[in-house]
Amino acid sequence: MPEKAELRIGNETIDLEVLEGSEGERALDIAELRSKTGFITMDPGYANTGSCESSICFINGEEGILRYRGYPIEQIADQCSFIETSYLLVYGELPNKEQLDNFRESIRYHTMLHEDFRLFYRALPKDAHPMAACSAACAALATFYPDSLDPRDSREIEISVHRLMAKLPTIASYAYNHSVGQPFMSPDNRLSYVGNLLHMLFATPCEPFEVDPVVEKALDLLFILHADHEQNCSTSTVRLVGSSHVNLFAAISAGINALWGPRHGGANQEVIEMLQAIAEEGITGKDFVERAKSRDDTSRLMGFGHRVYKNFDPRAKIIKKACFDVLQRLGVHSKLLEIAVELEELALKDEYFVERKLYPNVDFYSGVIYNAIGTPANMFTVMFAIGRLPGWIAQWNEMHQHKHKIGRPRQIYQGPTARDVTAIEGR
Ligand code: CMC
Repeated sequence: MPEKAELRIGNETIDLEVLEGSEGERALDIAELRSKTGFITMDPGYANTGSCESSICFINGEEGILRYRGYPIEQIADQCSFIETSYLLVYGELPNKEQLDNFRESIRYHTMLHEDFRLFYRALPKDAHPMAACSAACAALATFYPDSLDPRDSREIEISVHRLMAKLPTIASYAYNHSVGQPFMSPDNRLSYVGNLLHMLFATPCEPFEVDPVVEKALDLLFILHADHEQNCSTSTVRLVGSSHVNLFAAISAGINALWGPRHGGANQEVIEMLQAIAEEGITGKDFVERAKSRDDTSRLMGFGHRVYKNFDPRAKIIKKACFDVLQRLGVHSKLLEIAVELEELALKDEYFVERKLYPNVDFYSGVIYNAIGTPANMFTVMFAIGRLPGWIAQWNEMHQHKHKIGRPRQIYQGPTARDVTAIEGR
């Protein structure tokens, strides 16, 4: 492996340092390119730009590999809980029993929201999208808990991390409770992390509520599969916003907003709406796939395609299998699942999708599970956000542990060159 690469611009040659990752990916260090040559690099969408070195998550898109801290996603999904996975991402190693118990206890301790949050939610329209409510509530944590905002104080960071992990399910549930006009359900700390979320979402004060272990396990698995995915749009947002040294709550709130978009986490809501529209309008799978390919139609096959995975998305494989298992255990016959399977089969044989290496991604089947367990479509992306939280936290933490600059890309200006302002009468 060369330690340096040479770049020739006109008659001038400069050396660029070569960086190599622990899995053999290589990068050219161009940090000093502009100061040495006057040139910047252009890479809209950052498809070929490394923004950091990281030891949290490894993806090989060509081979469909995903690992958290070196552990294959298949093993984590099979052997760990979401809370263990969160500990692994945030602290770097799998916890022993005592560490796990302490982590779990600390999170349990922080599940309640300040009572005035109820007023905060009541001020929102009932049909407010829960992602907007969650991101606003997350930013508002900084106003309720100003004692843990300093991103350079390790004790304050620890408190905010545990607060955020504990409170996001409560925040999410309050958003849902408000949207359906039901009382805000307080957490029940005897339950597991996921069990508590289900309780706050679906219990009411007047009826007994039992957490269904099949649903609890399915949701735990979905959260594990969503827990981190290196420098995707929302994670890069958390890092970019966090690079200004704003507090963790504000950076995560920005990440929630980034995740909301339909090209990112919002795709899970769009997938189920697409499947429902196909079912209700009686469109054939074949016609829909044709529509998704058409240049003059803006509808894409939602839940298909990925910037990094060009072979298969390992999360989608696990979710598809879980989808069949969960639906069978719950005794649910899903027309939507049948349509999804048909669309997948058609697309995987279609030249358009094959040529562009478009495969089902994590969002393709997850919505069918959320739907089967009674989650309303506008809460799907909120579920994704709860799952992604430990990854965002780990990435934010890692950035603060390393020397880093404020995130600040450059541009090539293409606007008017200098000109004089004319008085308003003359314009
Ligand atoms: N349906 C139809 N065509 C597609 C699709 C799709 N789902 N995805 C990509 N294409 C086409 C696109 O039109 C383009 O064609 P052409 O080269 O002829 O112009 C080509 O494939 C490349 O697309 P791109 O948008 O340049 O690719 P990208 O790597 O920038 O985007 C993506 C990746 C995920 C945004 C995109 O595949 C997409 O919009 N998929 C649907 C939305 C979705 O499922 N998002 C969830 C992503 S995974 C979870 C997450 O990150 O949250």
